[in-house]
Amino acid sequence: MKPKVFVTRIIPDEGLKLVKEACDARIWEGELPPPREVILEEVQEVEGILSLLTARMDAEVMDAAPKLKVISNYAVGYDNIDIPAATERGIIVGNTPGVLTDTTADLAWALLMATARRITEGDRYVREGRWQTWGPTILLGQDVHHATLGIIGMGRIGATIAKRASGFEMKVLYYDVNRREDLEKELGVEYRPLDDLLRESDFVTVHTWLSEETYHLIGKRELKLMRETAILINDARGPIVDNMALYEALRDGDILAAGLDVTEPEPLPVDHPLLTLDNVIVVPHIGSGSVYTRGLMARMAAENLLAGLKGEMPPNPVNPEALQKS
Ligand code: DGY
Repeated sequence: MKPKVFVTRIIPDEGLKLVKEACDARIWEGELPPPREVILEEVQEVEGILSLLTARMDAEVMDAAPKLKVISNYAVGYDNIDIPAATERGIIVGNTPGVLTDTTADLAWALLMATARRITEGDRYVREGRWQTWGPTILLGQDVHHATLGIIGMGRIGATIAKRASGFEMKVLYYDVNRREDLEKELGVEYRPLDDLLRESDFVTVHTWLSEETYHLIGKRELKLMRETAILINDARGPIVDNMALYEALRDGDILAAGLDVTEPEPLPVDHPLLTLDNVIVVPHIGSGSVYTRGLMARMAAENLLAGLKGEMPPNPVNPEALQKS
């Protein structure tokens, strides 16, 4: 008999096909995430869940699924999953690191370039028929080349962003709870305490995990430390930046602009104050959103799921110690 699994949304075929072949799979086909009561109902008999970051996987879900062996998250981030609760119950959790690093770094760069050179404002300017002539002072932006880039979180994505920066001959600073002397040598990046990085950078880009420690890491105080000409980029997790403080900083000219792939909450309501401002670009959490990368993530999530169902260590485990428990 094939193991029963619940897939909380349709994922690309590269992974879904594998899951359908090997499992008795129930798949939520809605465009929006399944309601909580549907999740609690669907998981009752399953041995595996393939979840998205839009589905909260907490102790209540785990307890509703007494046969659950594995939760495979279709994302590198897993702040939607209560990892200690999973480990305690012997449930192995998998994620999709590595395959989305370049694509997510590319999007941070796209936001950085677009905010620096006012691309969306320029597009609106043209579409609204305001383009009358070439003008010496129309939509002047900030130079990216030779500027100082501050990277908060020097993991895989942070390091990839630093590599891209060398083509722009930028000075690259980083802050991380772990000093990365290896990358300092390899990439020529310089460590700074967070406050110094904020003071010295022309562009600040956020690439940390979301945790209790990083919740609102960038708030009113931190935004005040930044330069009035500085630009903030976030394609990590929305709650790392206090969006209301960011709104005030952008409105009051404490910083120049922001490019956000992630917000708090998600989706950002269309009447959110941030969306009244011209100097912010918001896109809907598409950091890893290339056709190729989303396919790789799907395959990886399926492989994690299938290994966990067999009681084996998934290729990308988040809590390997859970297998000892089970
Ligand atoms: C992740 O993987 O954590 C992203 O936010 C979605 O790809």
